[in-house]
Amino acid sequence: MPKRIKLGILGGGGDSLIGVLHRVAAYINDNYEITGGVFNANHEESLAFAKEIDIPTNRIYADLDALIEAELKLPEEERIQVCSVLTPNFLHFPMAKKLLENGFHVICEKPMTTNYEEAKILQETLAKAKKVFAVTHTYTGYPMVRQMREMIKAGELGKIHKVDARYYQGWINGIIHDKEKRSTVWRLDPKKAGISSCMGDIGVHAFNMIEFTTSLQVKSLLCDFNYLYDDNQMDVDGTVLIRMDKHVKGVIRSSQVATGEENGLAIAIYGDKAAFRWEQENPNYLYKLSDTEPLQVYKPGHAYNSELSLDGTKLPPGHPEGIFDAMANIYLGVAKAIRGEAYNDGEFPTMLDGVRGLNFIESTVESNKQGNIWVDLD
Ligand SMILES: NC(=O)c1ccc[n+]([C@@H]2O[C@H](COP(=O)([O-])OP(=O)(O)OC[C@H]3O[C@@H](n4cnc5c(N)ncnc54)[C@H](O)[C@@H]3O)[C@@H](O)[C@H]2O)c1
Repeated sequence: MPKRIKLGILGGGGDSLIGVLHRVAAYINDNYEITGGVFNANHEESLAFAKEIDIPTNRIYADLDALIEAELKLPEEERIQVCSVLTPNFLHFPMAKKLLENGFHVICEKPMTTNYEEAKILQETLAKAKKVFAVTHTYTGYPMVRQMREMIKAGELGKIHKVDARYYQGWINGIIHDKEKRSTVWRLDPKKAGISSCMGDIGVHAFNMIEFTTSLQVKSLLCDFNYLYDDNQMDVDGTVLIRMDKHVKGVIRSSQVATGEENGLAIAIYGDKAAFRWEQENPNYLYKLSDTEPLQVYKPGHAYNSELSLDGTKLPPGHPEGIFDAMANIYLGVAKAIRGEAYNDGEFPTMLDGVRGLNFIESTVESNKQGNIWVDLD
């Protein structure tokens, strides 16, 4: 068994939503140990949380600068090798850039940056740094999402002509309708969330899911946002028409005010031979539809699945795997890359996915602002 990779965590404190997912995912395949980090902006809170989860406090730092300075003084074999950036969005870019410039690998939450320009700068930084960089589009780690990608690549749907991805949540209803509450949430503050709320937070996952599964790129889009209230600066709902190619069109529907919806990410991909339908809330079932054959259901762990899909399955068929496993699969791919081992394309979302994501988010904002016009992506 190779030595565990030393992982630092930035953000993801006890008060956070996503921290636990990364911590558990890092341990699932026995590749990492959490060595230190900065869990919260407040050092006392960081230390208290480290004690609570039984991580030695001697490498819990006041901020990222202190982490870099102290870690670089350590012998290389003791040093933190990779940091996961799990803070609110506006800190992703400065933190990831500094980490790369100082020789650390990076696992970064999405959206990778708060605007497209920063994303391109980070891409250049990575090219110089030659480190491993992953963006955690978590849903690409599900075995049946990976299976979709591989079967589409193998031509099983024929020529794709229609895609439909939807990401519906309802949680912002509890905040958005109250004027005071809506000014207190970082996801509705452009300084902290970036240029978009709904598209930046969840629409970008739907976009990534389309590009990941079809291996095609969105070329242009037309977007219509809903802000619900005049004093709210951030979109909480949006519908996007997309053109991927002359004859491949589709729609991305995204909402944080879809009342009663929980984490409703779903995708349907239609080709001239067959179609796929998959839903995040029921991730172990991939439906293959046909005009002439009975409905087929693909499930994880069976030998009929592709190598990329099977690589993300840890138990025999019939043991449901979920979001912790999906994130763990991404961490597994990153571990292979850090160790210089072979890995399959698609094992973790890369810098290119991050850059494409910001190109998408910024284009939706632009389209809506200009009066719902078609905007080309790069
Ligand atoms: N991949 C996914 O499916 C997914 C799901 C949820 C959230 N996210 C992303 O994860 C990120 C965090 O989201 P969240 O919901 O956990 O946010 P959150 O507000 O719940 O938690 C943010 C954490 O960052 C800490 N923090 C703030 N400033 C800091 C600083 N200067 N230094 C260190 N820590 C600091 C906070 O104390 C808190 O612990 C966001 O970018 C979000 O888009 C991704």
